[in-house]
Amino acid sequence: MKRAGWCVVALAVGLAGCDDGSDGRVPAAEYGEVLFNDSRLSESSFNSFSCATCHSTTPTPPSGRMDSGYTLYDAAFRESWWGGFETRLLDAVNFCYVNFMRGVTPLPKDSPQSRALYEYLVSISPSPSAPARPFTVVKDVVDVTRGDVARGQQVYAEACQSCHGAPHTGEGRLTELASILPEVTDDYDTLFPGVPKSLVVIEKVRHGQFFGVGGNMPLYSLEALSDEDLGALLAFMGL
Ligand code: HEC
Ligand code: HEC
Repeated sequence: MKRAGWCVVALAVGLAGCDDGSDGRVPAAEYGEVLFNDSRLSESSFNSFSCATCHSTTPTPPSGRMDSGYTLYDAAFRESWWGGFETRLLDAVNFCYVNFMRGVTPLPKDSPQSRALYEYLVSISPSPSAPARPFTVVKDVVDVTRGDVARGQQVYAEACQSCHGAPHTGEGRLTELASILPEVTDDYDTLFPGVPKSLVVIEKVRHGQFFGVGGNMPLYSLEALSDEDLGALLAFMGL
């Protein structure tokens, strides 16, 4: 019965494929993989992120990809998540779902979606236990040393471009809600008087939100983006 229920949900949100050729039902882990890759998991029309936007699923992230989130390979049985802040896997997932994907309410424990996502995460977690991953949030934002422009260009391509598109034009960006970089900073002296533009960008990257302004951009921990790479990125952006 449960599996039939998953199919109903899959059809309701317009996902293809409730037919595996046998009994017409999709196994939970497979449905979970579809949900993982589909921004329509969130009912918000302003959301264009899927889990896969920010998380890879291979043992090490593919080269050329610097994500804000860790790979979720072997994530299901980590001792804790979000640097020890979350002790239940579903809470760790719901943090992303609500804050980044604009999910209005957290996915309930027994919903077909959270069950399927769980089965999918288990299917890519061969180790029965795994240590928690370090996660260091930069609390107080301070300026960083500028680095190498060429390195900064690479960091932009690997960390920012998938959402923001090409520098200066935004070409290929994931959503029009993702601003054009670095041109969006042209207004910052008016919007944030007395604060150096670079510091506004650092605040945004480190916290995902900034100076009382919200947003759904993910935050970058020190593990996801070192201060050195951030300094190179700022140099590339001319800030
Ligand atoms: C906009 C980017 C973004 C999206 C979309 C997103 N996440 Fe995350 N997620 C993060 C960041 C950043 C973290 C914190 C760093 C980390 O722990 O991986 C995180 C953490 C996690 C963690 C904890 C990992 C750990 O070991 O600490 C899990 C599990 C997770 N996300 C699952 C999901 C799932 C499932 C979805 C889709 C429903 C999702 N995330 C969507 C960015 C995102
Ligand atoms: C997962 C998608 C995603 C990634 C990756 C991402 N951003 Fe964003 N970013 C957004 C979205 C969406 C917005 C607009 C909503 C908001 O402000 O959160 C935004 C907003 C911003 C803003 C604020 C623009 C304004 O309104 O003033 C800055 C600055 C920024 N991003 C810089 C970066 C930099 C630098 C990187 C790479 C280190 C990056 N972003 C990576 C999605 C992303």
